[in-house]
Amino acid sequence: MATEYDLVVDSPGRINIIGEHTDYNNGFVLPTAIDKIIKFKFRKNGSADKCTVHSANFNTDFSFSLKDVKPSKEQWANYILGVISGIQELTDKIEGFDCTLDSNIPVGSGISSSAALECGLAFGLNELFDLGLTRLQMVKIGQMAEHNYVGTKCGIMDQFASVMSKDGHVILLDCQSLEYEYVPITIKPYKILLLNTNVSHNLADGEYNKRRAMCEAGVETIAKKYPEVKSLRDVSPEMLTEFKGILDDVTYNRCSYVVDEKVRVLDTVEALKNNKLDEMGANMYATHEGLSKLYEVSCDELDFLVDFSKNYDSVIGSRMMGGGFGGCTINIIKEDAVKEFSEAAEKAYFDKFNIKLTAFEANPCGGTSISETK
Ligand code: GLA
Repeated sequence: MATEYDLVVDSPGRINIIGEHTDYNNGFVLPTAIDKIIKFKFRKNGSADKCTVHSANFNTDFSFSLKDVKPSKEQWANYILGVISGIQELTDKIEGFDCTLDSNIPVGSGISSSAALECGLAFGLNELFDLGLTRLQMVKIGQMAEHNYVGTKCGIMDQFASVMSKDGHVILLDCQSLEYEYVPITIKPYKILLLNTNVSHNLADGEYNKRRAMCEAGVETIAKKYPEVKSLRDVSPEMLTEFKGILDDVTYNRCSYVVDEKVRVLDTVEALKNNKLDEMGANMYATHEGLSKLYEVSCDELDFLVDFSKNYDSVIGSRMMGGGFGGCTINIIKEDAVKEFSEAAEKAYFDKFNIKLTAFEANPCGGTSISETK
């Protein structure tokens, strides 16, 4: 019933081919939006400050006043309030609105339903009230909502991918300069298959912030000898080895993963451009090894699925994706093997963990967009 609404916006989740936990270390990432979205229906409600957001998935409403925006005890409300607060720092043009959300992005699956929520809201309100925000401003509003309202000190990758993606491409994003390049992702006869563990170990947020703090502690030590080093982006693998035995082992391992991952992303982009998909896949396996053993953000369920994929020649790359501690693995697999592999993985996973695995293909898509206007 589009006429009940002034505007309908589709905001996508994202995948990331490679470059994990590198964004907040000023490194490179290679994400894209996919065909899993939150659909937002917006209307102005004529009030100066009263707003209501309805989640169709959870069948719940949340109402608030624009005059009293502050963090809530309800975590899902914080994504919304954080975005409103970010917009209010830039403009006072926003007025009362109603919004309905309907999502087919599995929550907690590491494909960033949260960025889709933040960015879709910012994008829709920008249209509805003609706020004149740029796409990059919306990206940053989303990221700051996570920092200031949700409490996750995330990097910029998820929001950037949700808003800026281009159909059929991945984005090589330099998280230091925010320069980016669209790289075609033509990988026929392969497909991108996600395996959702359907677990989301709840240490995720605290552990995420701890990883970030550890990387920063590593940089602080390295910068005492090399003052030009401002982030792990500025540290080469050779430079880091000088700090073995100076940094404690855990910090050293964390830094070592990030420094290697920076190189792997750039190698992978070259491989993709030159259609050397086996190299891309091998790098994805190496990333998983690093995330599991050095960065320690994997879990038994993710490790099991990545190991399981190694039994299949049709899978050329597999790794955990996103923040970790659950969510999905991303797999590059021959098109004609998707069904057989998915079924075998589902069975093996259920036998091992007694949990249902969900397998689905991910297709690279464009970023947040208007799908209907009145
Ligand atoms: C989460 C964060 C991102 C990024 C990834 C790990 O998705 O929101 O900023 O750090 O984890 O790569």
